[in-house]
Amino acid sequence: MEIIKLNKVNKIYGSKNNKIAALNDINLTINKGELISIIGPSGSGKSTLLNIIGTLSKITSGDYILNNKKVDNLKNIELAKIRNKTFGFVVQHFALINDYSVFENIEIPLQYSKTSYKNRKYIIENILSKLELTDKINKNITELSGGQCQRVAIARAIVNDPEVILADEPTGALDQKTGQNVLDIFKNLNKEGKTIIIVTHDIKIANQCDRIIKIEDGYLKNDTIIK
Ligand SMILES: Nc1ncnc2c1ncn2[C@@H]1O[C@H](COP(=O)(O)OP(=O)(O)O)[C@@H](O)[C@H]1O
Ligand SMILES: [Mg+2]
Repeated sequence: MEIIKLNKVNKIYGSKNNKIAALNDINLTINKGELISIIGPSGSGKSTLLNIIGTLSKITSGDYILNNKKVDNLKNIELAKIRNKTFGFVVQHFALINDYSVFENIEIPLQYSKTSYKNRKYIIENILSKLELTDKINKNITELSGGQCQRVAIARAIVNDPEVILADEPTGALDQKTGQNVLDIFKNLNKEGKTIIIVTHDIKIANQCDRIIKIEDGYLKNDTIIK
């Protein structure tokens, strides 16, 4: 089943004399349940593509069809609703709030979705147990290792049960073993049915995905299905 479809998508940053073509004529279809990596040199447009897929960034031209609905022309408020229930985001440097506890960080998306405190607690305890973080529930972010921080960030990304997880260099700040541990979490989530898209520099990570999409200078150079 098709979730994401980009037709001839272009993204141009800047205006007039200062234009940067970050993406050129991207055609891409992503199906439910895929585990995909996006690779390519620095500055090639990987983050731009991921942010467009996640509706955080608007396309300059082309069509974006998400779950059979054209979304590139929607108002921001409508888009935010769709984004919150469809996507969970994970980034390289975790983007956690240091003054908040583990529990409070993971709770943030649930407050937007108006879940009762009792349900929030139930959901968060379940996810923490799954990610082997139960004993960290009341800890401050500053008390955690990098790998633990990324697991908290993954917990926050999945707490609303999104269809798609978008991860931008999620292992980029971690040593190899910890990075592999994070990838294994994504693999398990994928087995449970989540569609996962991972931007990475690391070919060892990419090779463990079902499909590798290669971007160069804003062009989709290669789209290889491995498994
Ligand atoms: N907000 C922005 N404003 C202007 N140019 C940008 C912006 N974000 C990215 N770019 C430019 O777009 C190109 C692609 O960037 P990016 O998608 O971040 O690449 P990658 O993630 O592959 O390193 C680069 O030339 C970058 O400098
Ligand atoms: Mg990037």
